[in-house]
Amino acid sequence: MTGKPRILFAVGSQKPAESNSRSLADYLAEQLRKRGVPSKQIHLLPLVRGEERWNELFAAVDEADFLFLVFPLFVDSQPWSVVRFMELVGAHRRSSNAGPMRVAALVNSGFPEARHNEPALAICRQFAVESNMSWAGGLALGSGPVIGGKPLPDAGRTVRPVMKALEMVADALAEGRDIPAEAIALMARPLMPHWVYRSVATLGLWWTARKNGVSGKLRARPFTSPAEP
Ligand SMILES: Cc1cc2nc3c(=O)[nH]c(=O)nc-3n(C[C@H](O)[C@H](O)[C@H](O)COP(=O)(O)O)c2cc1C
Repeated sequence: MTGKPRILFAVGSQKPAESNSRSLADYLAEQLRKRGVPSKQIHLLPLVRGEERWNELFAAVDEADFLFLVFPLFVDSQPWSVVRFMELVGAHRRSSNAGPMRVAALVNSGFPEARHNEPALAICRQFAVESNMSWAGGLALGSGPVIGGKPLPDAGRTVRPVMKALEMVADALAEGRDIPAEAIALMARPLMPHWVYRSVATLGLWWTARKNGVSGKLRARPFTSPAEP
């Protein structure tokens, strides 16, 4: 590949602001900017919801030659907005004279093991095949909530390996290379021992429940029929 890519970040969090996915995309965009590679970012949910904004969505995709999907893992897969985006863009590219495009993805999950994200990355790879795009690589991050929706430089020392991995990705993309294997491995490395993450996450869940006055109902099973054990 020659020349700098025109990168479009497609962010698939359901949250309009302070999302972990957005923090990841913002940091990578900033690293790319420092290396002379401009990028654009779109938030998928409002664009895919109703037909009236699909042309805007297609125009953003058509202007780019590198699509970077960044989204959270929802029930072991992509959130609805990302599924809808892939359906719409796949059909659009198949029915139009779409130019060459590369695609990469970064998925972050709430569970600490990065491998939970593998099925979602496999779906992104299949999207690339069916949409006439070439696959540039996929990154998986566990323990995404450690970011806390903050800009990565403000999210504490724990996320430094994540920043380093994104800097490696920026170096590669600026040079026209695919996502390097070293960046994929570093991104997937546990940010802390799993037992520490689980303990903090359990405490956080309890604290949120307490704030909402339901800490005594955490084991409630309201949809279980009385006949079930
Ligand atoms: C509806 C829903 C489903 C989720 N499903 C999973 C899941 O299957 N596995 C997992 O590890 N995390 C799951 N999570 C956690 C999110 O992936 C995690 O909190 C992520 O960091 C959110 O990113 P965001 O701030 O960009 O939305 C789920 C969160 C929600 C709200």
